[in-house]
Amino acid sequence: MTVDDAVARLDGARTDALAAIGNASGLDELDALEREHLKGRGSAVSEVNEQIKSFAPEDRPRAGQAVGAYRAAVGEALTARRAELEAAAAADTRGRLDLTLGTHGRGRGHMHLITQIRRELEDIFLGLGYRVAEGPEVEDDWHNFEALNIPPAHPARSMQDTIYVALGADEQTLLRTHTSPVQIRTMETQPPPIYVVAPGRVYRNETLDARHSPAFHQLEGLAVDRGLTMADLFGTIEAFVRRLFDDESVRTRFRSDFFPYTEPSAELAVSCVFCGGSGCRVCSHTGWIELGGCGMVDPNVLQGVGIDPEEWQGFAFGFGLERIAMIRYGIDEIRTFFDNDVRFLEQY
Ligand code: DAH
Repeated sequence: MTVDDAVARLDGARTDALAAIGNASGLDELDALEREHLKGRGSAVSEVNEQIKSFAPEDRPRAGQAVGAYRAAVGEALTARRAELEAAAAADTRGRLDLTLGTHGRGRGHMHLITQIRRELEDIFLGLGYRVAEGPEVEDDWHNFEALNIPPAHPARSMQDTIYVALGADEQTLLRTHTSPVQIRTMETQPPPIYVVAPGRVYRNETLDARHSPAFHQLEGLAVDRGLTMADLFGTIEAFVRRLFDDESVRTRFRSDFFPYTEPSAELAVSCVFCGGSGCRVCSHTGWIELGGCGMVDPNVLQGVGIDPEEWQGFAFGFGLERIAMIRYGIDEIRTFFDNDVRFLEQY
């Protein structure tokens, strides 16, 4: 091979190489072309390079320059085409997952705040040896009123704005106004000793506002045993309140009240868990927060369900669950429990 042959050979090879590189449609093909036209042993440029030492000394520089020019031109073409192909690959997102993309997340549901509180109260009373009892939300007059010592004309009925479902001559069906009828249902079906709590939804004909709702929840408690006294009632409620607020310094206050089904009856309040009793917004600056009512089961009520009040005594109590949740979390709108706005619910 003469120097002229070598230079001509490289010119031809360069034309082929540049054409092939310009037409390469993928990076793998480009890598193959690089091996074939630039780096590979059998390529024109490596063959010419091998021959240089056989040329006459004065011809070697021309051959060397031709090899250098070839490498530069082909190398440049490879680099340029590689950049083009890489840019095209980056722009093509079809069939690829972009792992850097954020997600909107999928919200996981959880128990409603009232359900959480209900379960917590149940747990506390289960720990004190109580059982959970249930009763229907659609009640009859007997269980909701009469058996609880509230006769037809009794003024206590108007205290509870009853929602009636059916008002027949001899059968009155209503939405229970409190969970107290579960006391009656339990005593009707089970002999003492009885220790039950009955959580559930109750209804009153109230207009919805920040503090009132036509549907809300209560937890009723009933104990019937031999020799129960008010000290048992007070001790039970005190133990309950301390667990509920997880605070040994919470004090309870019982003030005389009236409920037809208990005698004596008391209103239960706890020292304000926010200010410790010194007075704040939550307790309306009284230092106390009312939780519900309680008392010793009236002997008439025991007698009405066939339990001998000479042998058995009972105490009972009823709390509002929304009220407990509102106190616990400083919520001042009862409506928020029923709006079911997840932005509210997911905070608890
Ligand atoms: N039933 C009453 C109410 O709805 C609460 C209550 C008071 C329940 C005294 C009781 C009780 O068991 O002894 O407001």
